[in-house]
Amino acid sequence: MSAKFKILIHDLSQALQNKNYNEIPYLLNSYNSLISDWNTLSVENLNSNCKYTRNNLLNLPNNLGQILILIWKSNCNSNVHFHPNSECWVKVLNGKLEENIFQDNKLISTNSILLNDVSHINDSIGSHSMHNRSLNNRAVTLHVYSNNDNNNNNIEIFKNFQNLDLHIYRKKIN
Ligand SMILES: [Fe+2]
Repeated sequence: MSAKFKILIHDLSQALQNKNYNEIPYLLNSYNSLISDWNTLSVENLNSNCKYTRNNLLNLPNNLGQILILIWKSNCNSNVHFHPNSECWVKVLNGKLEENIFQDNKLISTNSILLNDVSHINDSIGSHSMHNRSLNNRAVTLHVYSNNDNNNNNIEIFKNFQNLDLHIYRKKIN
């Protein structure tokens, strides 16, 4: 992991802890994805039953938020889901995704989320599903949640990079 990426996760962590949610899209948009920055944090479950792999980067205490990297196999999708009591931001680190947004079980929009794009959803916007439509390429996304109890907790974490030693890093840069 590069220092630049570690600083991004550190800054996102600070924004979550301070509930400075306006900063989060700014931080995510300010980062330009480079595979070498985060490659070691995108470990894929190669089991063919697994549509997408969840790697945990940060799980803050007191329900203050969580940061994950997801690796999407080609031609796969999530189910339609809500994010109870949580904001959810997604930045595309590699490839691209399609997002479908639903209100009252009706599809209200379909958005292409391209490399470096940032999407945002909460339950007042609606529920959503994400699709990697590529038949050849995986996609990699960075997910920031303002609540640890997001509804995906019943899906397995494949690799846990628990909090990335951010406290140690903070000592080094001070
Ligand atoms: Fe979601």
